[in-house]
Amino acid sequence: MIKVLFVCLGNICRSPLAEAIFNHKVQAMGLSRKFKSDSAGTSDYHIGELPDERSIQCAQRKGLKISHRGRQVNRTDFRDFDYIIAMDDSNQKNLQTLRDKYKFAGKEIYLMRDFVPGCEGLPVPDPYYGGEEGFDEIFQILDESINNFLTKIQEAHQLYA
Ligand code: 4NP
Repeated sequence: MIKVLFVCLGNICRSPLAEAIFNHKVQAMGLSRKFKSDSAGTSDYHIGELPDERSIQCAQRKGLKISHRGRQVNRTDFRDFDYIIAMDDSNQKNLQTLRDKYKFAGKEIYLMRDFVPGCEGLPVPDPYYGGEEGFDEIFQILDESINNFLTKIQEAHQLYA
């Protein structure tokens, strides 16, 4: 079982959407039994909350369901997840600091758009203070990034349905 954790700041906009897109794709590929995914935030701002209504609506427009409650990244996540994927470089830096503090040196913290050639280093932009169109934009970004991520780990782990 390969375990994947998507991480943003609040765990109510980007990372729950990433998790829902990932689960949908994995299911469509017939690979559900091979993966477990979750999402978390670096902050404690929205612990226990449902995703932002705009993320829920955006997912719904694409036929996806989001069910998640906000939670903060914790020490055991560094032990339990094979792939920890940050949405932007601020999330990535915070995760690297936590990783070092918790003595998981060597654990790679991935950046979501690094899986897309030509988009290395770019953020999945924080849509929280913007309008609804920002959510459709991050959906497209996540969709492409997760396709590439899945291709990469299917090859790396020889996973076929
Ligand atoms: P997220 O978006 O990190 O994609 O979940 C945000 C949600 C909440 C806040 C910032 C970003 N906030 O400042 O409360």
